[in-house]
Amino acid sequence: MAQPQTHTIQATVPAVFTQTLAVQDQDMRNLYEKAKRDQWNASRDIDWSLDLDPQHGILPDGLIDIYGTPYWERLSPTQRNELNRHFSAWRISQLMYGEEFALLVCSQIANIVPGIDAKFFMATQVVDEARHAEVLARYIHEKIGIVYPLTSSLKQLFDQILSMPQWYLKTVGTQLVAETLAVSLFRMLADHSQEATIRAICKRILADESRHMGFGMLSLPEQIAALSERERREVEDFACEAASGLLRGQFPREAYEAVGFSTADIEDIKRLRLEIAQKSEYVAFRKYFKKDFHASLWNNLARVGLLSDYTVEKLAAMGITAPQQSAAAA
Ligand SMILES: [Fe+2]
Ligand SMILES: [Fe+2]
Repeated sequence: MAQPQTHTIQATVPAVFTQTLAVQDQDMRNLYEKAKRDQWNASRDIDWSLDLDPQHGILPDGLIDIYGTPYWERLSPTQRNELNRHFSAWRISQLMYGEEFALLVCSQIANIVPGIDAKFFMATQVVDEARHAEVLARYIHEKIGIVYPLTSSLKQLFDQILSMPQWYLKTVGTQLVAETLAVSLFRMLADHSQEATIRAICKRILADESRHMGFGMLSLPEQIAALSERERREVEDFACEAASGLLRGQFPREAYEAVGFSTADIEDIKRLRLEIAQKSEYVAFRKYFKKDFHASLWNNLARVGLLSDYTVEKLAAMGITAPQQSAAAA
C-alpha cells in the first residue's frame, strides 16, 4: 500500500482583481448558470450501498493491455478478476490525482483570469473538481481498498502546468487537452465498465467535464488571436506536447507485479503493449475511444484557433489526422 505523499510546487501566479462585476461575457455567464443548476452531491446522488462482485471486474477487461493475448488466456477467471481489480485501482488512482490537479489549477486560474464571468465559472469548476476527487477517492477507499501512487509522467505534466504563470497555457493544458481526453475517457468508462457504481460515477463526472471543456472553447479564441507569433507558437508547442504526453499513457507495472507477473513477463508485456498500440489492435470500444478523442481534439484546436499548418504537422506525427480522413481510413 502506498504511503501518504505530499509535494510542493513553488508556483507564483498573479491575482487579478477586477472592479467590473457587471456581465461582460454573456456566454460565459450562461455557462456559469448551467454549472450552478447542474451541481450534484457525491454523498447523496451516488448509491454507495452496492458491494463489488468478486465474480466480475470493475473497469472493462479490454483496457488491460494483455487482454486477448496468450498472457490473458493462461489466467483463470479468478486471476483475471484479481488483475482487473488491481488494474482498475491503478487506473482510477491516476484519474483521482488528475481531479486533484484540476482542483489546484482551477483555483489558480480563478485568480489570474481577468474577466469576472470567467472567475465566477472557475469558482464552480473548483467545486466540481473537488467533488470528482472526492467521489473517486471514496470509491477507491471504500470499494476497492487499493491505492496506487501518481505516475512520474503525470506528475511531471501536472507540475509543469501548475508552475506556468499564464492562464491561457494552463487552460490549453487542462480544459483544452486534458479535459477533451477526459470527456472521451469518461464516456467510454460510463458505457463499458463492468461495475454499476463506477458507471454511475463516470456518467456524473462526464456531464461536468463537458462544461469544463466549454470554458476552454469560450475563453481561448479571443486570447489566442491576440498573441504574438512567438507566443502563439509556444501555445501550439505546448498543446501538442501535452497531448502527446497524455496519449503515450503510462504503464501499470505495479498492477502486474501485485498479481505475481515476473519481471521478464512484465518487460515482455510492455513490448507487446507498444506493438498493439502501433497496430491499433484494440477491442472495438477502445478503437472508438481513440477515434472520438482524436476527432474532438482536432475540432477543439480548430475552434480556439490553434490548428495551423505547424500543429497539423505535429498532430500527424502523433497519428492524429483530420476527422473526415480518419473516418475514411477506418
Ligand atoms: Fe474533473
Ligand atoms: Fe474537469
